[in-house]
Amino acid sequence: MCQEVREALLGWYDGHARDLPWRIGPAARARGVRPEPYPVWLSEVMLQQTTVAAVIPYWRRFTETWPTVEALAAAEDGAVMAAWAGLGYYARARNLLACAREVAMRDGRFPETEAELRELPGIGRYTAAAIAAICFDEPAVVVDGNVERVTSRLFAVRTPLPGARPLLREKAASLTTPVRPGDWAQAVMDLGATICTPRSPACAICPVMRWCEARKAGIQSDLPAKAPK
Ligand code: ADE
Repeated sequence: MCQEVREALLGWYDGHARDLPWRIGPAARARGVRPEPYPVWLSEVMLQQTTVAAVIPYWRRFTETWPTVEALAAAEDGAVMAAWAGLGYYARARNLLACAREVAMRDGRFPETEAELRELPGIGRYTAAAIAAICFDEPAVVVDGNVERVTSRLFAVRTPLPGARPLLREKAASLTTPVRPGDWAQAVMDLGATICTPRSPACAICPVMRWCEARKAGIQSDLPAKAPK
């Protein structure tokens, strides 16, 4: 089942990927072009706790004002905090600068593995895996809220969150392969953001509906289950 799900979801992504400014288009991706880590890192840090629609204008302003990680590293703290105003969670902006300065000291080159990316300030498990997969083709297991929802439904994992997390990670890992790992991660996230939504998922147009155990049991809208407060 895993191989069929992979093929169906990657095929869907080829035609339906969201057109986001930090992404590389399908034709260039097929030719092996990969995005630079700086714009991807910036987008992933901004997308923690903030929606895509809110992030896009901030991401554009940041990349116009500071086109490279070295330029960001050389910025005044106050200028970066002012540019961040409105995105909230200001610890992210402070970590962003700390990380940029660390990378600038390494000649402006981001490390290329998940394990090394994890060591940078403000880069957690999710962000390290996302950058490694999207920019460096590492088959890292990328798990955010969207991936947890899609995975809990595909495999009908009824255990409530947060206890289900280790099992959901294991299930997500079982779907990950060295084939197009960055596209795969983003395909699952796009599916979760646009079709496999928390309420009223659009199963009728879902490219992997045939393999969805939750849908077969009619419990898709109840998953992932949450532990009672
Ligand atoms: N949410 C956070 N990062 C994302 C990405 N790279 N693609 C889709 N959704 C995301």
